[in-house]
Amino acid sequence: MPSRRRVLQGSASLAALAALMPWLPSFASVSETLLTRAIPSSGEQLPVIGLGTSRTHDVAMTDEALQPLRDVLRELVNGGASLVDTAPSYGRAEAVCGALAAEDDMRKKLFLASKVSSTGRAAGERQVQASFAALRTDTIDLMQVHNLQDTSTQLGLLRDLKAQGRVRYIGVTHYLDSAHDRLLEVLRKEPVDFVQFNYSIGERNAERELLPFCADKGIAVLINRPFQRAALFDRVKGKSLPDWVAMELGATSWAQVMLKFILANPAVTAVIPASSNPRYMADNILAGQGRLPDAAQRQRIIELFA
Ligand SMILES: NC(=O)c1ccc[n+]([C@@H]2O[C@H](COP(=O)([O-])OP(=O)(O)OC[C@H]3O[C@@H](n4cnc5c(N)ncnc54)[C@H](OP(=O)(O)O)[C@@H]3O)[C@@H](O)[C@H]2O)c1
Repeated sequence: MPSRRRVLQGSASLAALAALMPWLPSFASVSETLLTRAIPSSGEQLPVIGLGTSRTHDVAMTDEALQPLRDVLRELVNGGASLVDTAPSYGRAEAVCGALAAEDDMRKKLFLASKVSSTGRAAGERQVQASFAALRTDTIDLMQVHNLQDTSTQLGLLRDLKAQGRVRYIGVTHYLDSAHDRLLEVLRKEPVDFVQFNYSIGERNAERELLPFCADKGIAVLINRPFQRAALFDRVKGKSLPDWVAMELGATSWAQVMLKFILANPAVTAVIPASSNPRYMADNILAGQGRLPDAAQRQRIIELFA
């Protein structure tokens, strides 16, 4: 019988092997199942790992530029995930997502989220129509008011689109700790299915009020900036991954530790790390499999990043 340590080392080497040989079939697809959590307003299950597209997906529409992003999307769906978050303000990202989603039968495997960032109803309508065109779809799964811009007008528009069946869920987003109080104000008075905000080992303000509030009120939570745009990797630069995170949590990379830390909060529905690298996508998928840290393990993780 192989020891527990040996099995964990085996899965770590499998990950390393696949990282070196990306032409091998996705290892995410042949291992454990990706965790899912219910969207409180519907009960629909959403896989806990998604994909952000800010900066990473603002590329030229050439086959050379699209190929790694196509591979990222394949890793996402082969790993059992579906959520892709984009926005009209991310340059060409929305159109890139639309082009890739239109290939094969990819669209039906995705849960597409985009945003509206306009002032005034007419401008919002124009922007949303452009999003349907860019994403090459008749239905967008989730439409969010971006950074609380003209929130009540745009939520009115999104509610009408939801009633028409063009949008399945609606929400609001922000990315700064300093906006959490404003998010709470909006959530107290506007019924929404989703809220998206920043939360990570480096930015823990949401633990105080926002996350407990969302759990209590039944609002689905998407977490952005899980790596603080990769800045969090600098905090552990040169540090090797402690044995206990592999032994106790099955984590084989720092990215997985950071994502598992976030997912350990039961108020979180899904986390959306951005990547243009299929190896990173496969790595991130692994964070949504297996065990999540308990309170004591979360404390130990905090100390690792101190
Ligand atoms: N106001 C808003 O609504 C708002 C604001 C901010 C973000 N967001 C959403 O949230 C998403 C995520 O936030 P973010 O893009 O700011 O930052 P992030 O996800 O914290 O960090 C992205 C960076 O992490 C790197 N990375 C990804 N997976 C990795 C891995 N396994 N190992 C090592 N490095 C890895 C990526 O590198 P590569 O590029 O090399 O793959 C990229 O540079 C955005 O893309 C966007 O969709 C929304």
